[in-house]
Amino acid sequence: MYSDKVIDHFTNPRNVGEIENASGVGTVGNAKCGDIMRIYLDIDEAGVIRDCKFKTFGCGAAVATSSMATELVKGKTIQEALEITNKAVMEALDGLPPVKVHCSLLAEEAIHAALWDYAQKNGIEIEGLEKPKTDISETEEEEEY
Ligand code: FES
Repeated sequence: MYSDKVIDHFTNPRNVGEIENASGVGTVGNAKCGDIMRIYLDIDEAGVIRDCKFKTFGCGAAVATSSMATELVKGKTIQEALEITNKAVMEALDGLPPVKVHCSLLAEEAIHAALWDYAQKNGIEIEGLEKPKTDISETEEEEEY
């Protein structure tokens, strides 16, 4: 049911933890399942993501997608990080079962929420970034398969 990569990132998640004085922190939840994900970003003066950590209180797929998402955003610019979709995270994990696709949305939304927090703290606007939702279950019907 789960790919080897999903199992690997679930049993041995990368970048778990917190970043003190993070440039941006984003927390999102899914009210339907009750799972919560928080992402911390450390962004340098050039707008490159130096470090990324996460804490996820959720299912295995949520842990695996957070872990992969942190790997994907590290070293990226803000614009590049913004373009990382839940689909890209799922592809990097060699797919997720259809009933678990919504879990990957948490990762995408948490990155957006952390970037939003960074923009707010620095009084800047990030092109293409919309105000994040705190409860992603409201938009689940629109998710892509
Ligand atoms: Fe809630 Fe996976 S079941 S995030």
